[in-house]
Amino acid sequence: MSAAAGLFLATPAAATDKGPGAPGIGDSYFPEHGNGGYDARHYSLTLDYQPGTDLLRGKTTIVATATQHLTRFNLDFLLKVDSVKVNGRAATFARSGLHELEITPPRALVRGTPFIVEVTYADTPSKVPVPDETGGFTPWIATADGALALGQPQVAWWWFPSNDHPLDKATYDITITVPKGTQAISNGVKVGERTRGDRTTSTWRMDKPMATYLATLFVGQLDVRQGRSSGGLPVTTAYSKNLGRYEAAAKESVERTPEIVDWLADRFGRYPFHSMGGSVTSALPGFALETQTQPVYDPRFFSGGPDTYVVVHENAHQWFGDSVAVKDWKHIWLNEGFATYAEWIWSEKLGEGTAAEVADFFYDQYPAGDPFWQVKPGDPGAADLFHNATYYRGGMTLQALRTEVGDAAFWSIIRTWARAKAHGNAETAEFVALAERISGKQLDALFDTWLFTPGKPATSPTGATPTAAAKSAAVAPASIAKIEKVHELLKHRKP
Ligand code: ARG
Ligand code: ZN
Repeated sequence: MSAAAGLFLATPAAATDKGPGAPGIGDSYFPEHGNGGYDARHYSLTLDYQPGTDLLRGKTTIVATATQHLTRFNLDFLLKVDSVKVNGRAATFARSGLHELEITPPRALVRGTPFIVEVTYADTPSKVPVPDETGGFTPWIATADGALALGQPQVAWWWFPSNDHPLDKATYDITITVPKGTQAISNGVKVGERTRGDRTTSTWRMDKPMATYLATLFVGQLDVRQGRSSGGLPVTTAYSKNLGRYEAAAKESVERTPEIVDWLADRFGRYPFHSMGGSVTSALPGFALETQTQPVYDPRFFSGGPDTYVVVHENAHQWFGDSVAVKDWKHIWLNEGFATYAEWIWSEKLGEGTAAEVADFFYDQYPAGDPFWQVKPGDPGAADLFHNATYYRGGMTLQALRTEVGDAAFWSIIRTWARAKAHGNAETAEFVALAERISGKQLDALFDTWLFTPGKPATSPTGATPTAAAKSAAVAPASIAKIEKVHELLKHRKP
């Protein structure tokens, strides 16, 4: 297998023919997500939001490059569009499919040349129907004092038009105007803010490539804090003023973000972004999400008191999920298995059970006949993207690898993966190839067993027989309850 090195630039399903761009980027689970024929480079969003009425007015400008001769191309978007311009000239547009906006520029676009699309729109996102494929989650939640845009993989359609797939990353400028006294948080760093009359406008800049689902908007009456990490990076934390009984524990947990990011950087290598932070919403999305540099947490993660496990999980995703993003949603374990394994090494650091013990605990906890073992983490299916198997069996896969290759090779694999794929996209076969190259071992059988074979593997992640694994689980790590709580919330439907 060839070495998994080099940076992958977004290469949407390129066609060399002339004509319309494909209505999907070619994802195996979500064929309509993303589009073909062009590569988005930069998004510039100018938004105006009115809490209460949930009126969102916006203009999104996209700088893209045509990857084929393009007579027509699609964006993914659900809101009502007023006008579209391409290279400054009015373009015609039409709707098709679930969320396609088909744009026909006045002149065909030439392969390899940059172009600018400007979409002007206004709508009430909370009134736009949510398709079944979100599994019951609501990606745009209007609150009494603001709104939250948060979802995976579906969320952008409710607030900006895009090439909606992780394969096409881009940089962002997000400018948002809200009533004076209301705060708005997005990704990266706030580069400007001014109040004119009774409206306040702030601009956020994400200067590293970002997948569309990792863009977030959090508007409300917020307690916003800005500081610096020990390494000098800007830190933004934001808390809804309506967190009620969750407030103290939420703040105590999320304020530890810089310390946790530094600790993760010691294991994974340099933190990939130029800022960090965290937001706790009162909107009850039903999960937390690794939105780039600014994860968002449902306050109920902190219902039992402070919880650092979920902060570790979302910040581990900054390396694995955000910087190293999936090429196709079927590779989701590269995100969730890695973030789960980060929780297990955190348990070890807290003295609440070693990563190996936690891995064996979860292995032992599911009997061979449990449906848990029927979901393949390496290809869970669209409906089981966030199944427990993606998380726990994904984490067990990494422990099985560590057991097989030893600590030195394991950490070299993890760090090399984070560095070689930084700000790009990756797939499972490339991880296997890298692990084989660094360890010098043939690992196909190991990965086949853990990722792609339904049924409970014959030996545990540490190589113990089922009986011995049960014994190790008898030293019940105190962390299990906390880890399970994190995962209960992450996988479950909105209560
Ligand atoms: N990626 C998120 C996390 O594990 C979970 C998102 C769950 N989303 C969902 N629609 N179920 O941190
Ligand atoms: Zn996760």
